[in-house]
Amino acid sequence: MRVKPAMTNMNNLFDVKGKVAVVTGGYGVLGSSISKHLAAQGAEVVILGRSANNAQKVLDEIAATGAKARFIVVDVLNLTALRQAKAEILAQFKKIDILINVAGGNVAGATLTADQPFFDMKLEDWEKVVNLNMNGTIYPCYVFGEVMAQQKFGSIINISSMAALSALTRVPGYSAAKAAVTNFTQWLATDMALKYGDGVHVNAIAPGFFIGDQNRALLINPDGSYTDRSKKILNKTPMNRFGDLSELNGAVQFLCSEAASFVTGVVLPVDGGFSAYSGV
Ligand SMILES: NC(=O)c1ccc[n+]([C@@H]2O[C@H](COP(=O)([O-])OP(=O)(O)OC[C@H]3O[C@@H](n4cnc5c(N)ncnc54)[C@H](O)[C@@H]3O)[C@@H](O)[C@H]2O)c1
Repeated sequence: MRVKPAMTNMNNLFDVKGKVAVVTGGYGVLGSSISKHLAAQGAEVVILGRSANNAQKVLDEIAATGAKARFIVVDVLNLTALRQAKAEILAQFKKIDILINVAGGNVAGATLTADQPFFDMKLEDWEKVVNLNMNGTIYPCYVFGEVMAQQKFGSIINISSMAALSALTRVPGYSAAKAAVTNFTQWLATDMALKYGDGVHVNAIAPGFFIGDQNRALLINPDGSYTDRSKKILNKTPMNRFGDLSELNGAVQFLCSEAASFVTGVVLPVDGGFSAYSGV
């Protein structure tokens, strides 16, 4: 019979203790919150990012709780650096259980002003935002996913966006790249399961709207009031509020734990109902 034996310990379904979790962009707004949560749950967190100085704050915060994390300088678009990081992580831990691709986001010139024609956008900026969000997710999957295929276990979580599901004004390149992340998540999930069995999971989270450094100016006026864009977002969010960073933790932990043993290829919205609601 093609079924998995019944789970033996239903009390520890969400356990991530001792799992080795690589988090790209792990000192950004969403990434640091996720890294801190996984470390607090007993995972061995390895943060990958471009600046050791910028990583120090989250490393100190994690160390202050008695939990563990380390940092490796990696630009996610640099395959050589990704491969070196893979070798370092395997030398230390002998396995990689979790990869969370958080590095990404908008690029200034690729965000149109409200009245700016698409045809004025510089294609260099389009290429930058697509490259970061699409290849910046695919390259780590290429390098660390191979380890998981060989091990025959592991969980990859990519970060898609509401922009991948229906059109968000002003961010065409970001939207196209996040749609590619969604599609690639499904593709890789399928390929992994067909070729390597049921131990490697590839899923994505599509966060709704969480106020961070990249979108603050679009959402909050200098006087602290909501922009018109914010008001439109809240009107289309049945829960009528922005997300709190801590509200991503449950979805992340679920997708990288035994609780998701039969879940692959999904894109889980964490959005207060934004993607479910037509607005009417
Ligand atoms: N904030 C939101 O509401 C929201 C909503 C949907 C999706 N997202 C996505 O979540 C992810 C994190 O967003 P955030 O709001 O925390 O942004 P952030 O800017 O705080 O974090 C992004 C991180 O990625 C890193 N990064 C960028 N380019 C990199 C590169 N080439 N190599 C390595 N690291 C690189 C940055 O240094 C930063 O640490 C992004 O993919 C973003 O698109 C955010």
